Amino acid sequence: MSKSPSLRLDRLLANLGYGSRREIGLLAKAGLIVLDGAPLRDADQRIAVTPDLSGRMVVDGEPLDPPPGLALMLHKPLGVTCSHKEAGPLVYGLLPERWRRRDPALSTIGRLDKETSGLLLLTDDGALLHKVISPKSNVAKRYRVALDRPLKGDEGMVLGSGAMLLDGEDKPLLPVEMEVEDETHVVVTLHEGRYHQVRRMFAALGNHVTALHRDRIGGLTLPDDLDAGAYRILTEADLRAVLDAPSVA
Ligand code: URA
Repeated sequence: MSKSPSLRLDRLLANLGYGSRREIGLLAKAGLIVLDGAPLRDADQRIAVTPDLSGRMVVDGEPLDPPPGLALMLHKPLGVTCSHKEAGPLVYGLLPERWRRRDPALSTIGRLDKETSGLLLLTDDGALLHKVISPKSNVAKRYRVALDRPLKGDEGMVLGSGAMLLDGEDKPLLPVEMEVEDETHVVVTLHEGRYHQVRRMFAALGNHVTALHRDRIGGLTLPDDLDAGAYRILTEADLRAVLDAPSVA
């Protein structure tokens, strides 16, 4: 089994956004950082950063924030942007304020457009982020799509051909699976993530996407009880579902 990394207490808490190392030192001296029921008065001491630390450490009366290695699912509502710095409401504004000061920072794993809702993953773990977005992992993403005009009938065949070209690109799209719900509603599963891919695919097919919602990444489905704007920490089983789901294309 690999050994847990350890960090100085002041570094650990400063990296989680609790304040400067000096401020953490003062919290410790005041007996406000407690591990397994005993105050830690020396902020220089090294702490093993284990996944269970939030259940064992209390800071100023509250459980410690999740240690580094955090991964979340967020039900992205319409109208918020997947960016750290654009104007207007950002997905990071839906998370606890202190989490915006974490180092390493939380980032979205891929993006959804401002006007797309649904399952969005975030992590501070760069290796996990790359694993999920890497073409090698071939993690499938499923979208529910509402269209402006009725289907013509050839869309499933064109999307599934592996030969479709998007405007301005010369590499054909990987085959996309499409299920028809009714003449203006489809479910598509992508095996790559190009810029505005679903909207551009249907524009190339002479249609227009009026609503777009992602409900599945790999084998992880957006839970029905996770309301728009709410988030949940991913379990090991959730992460396995994202990465280990069989992918068809
Ligand atoms: N395709 C799009 O067009 N938009 C998204 O947000 C995701 C996939």
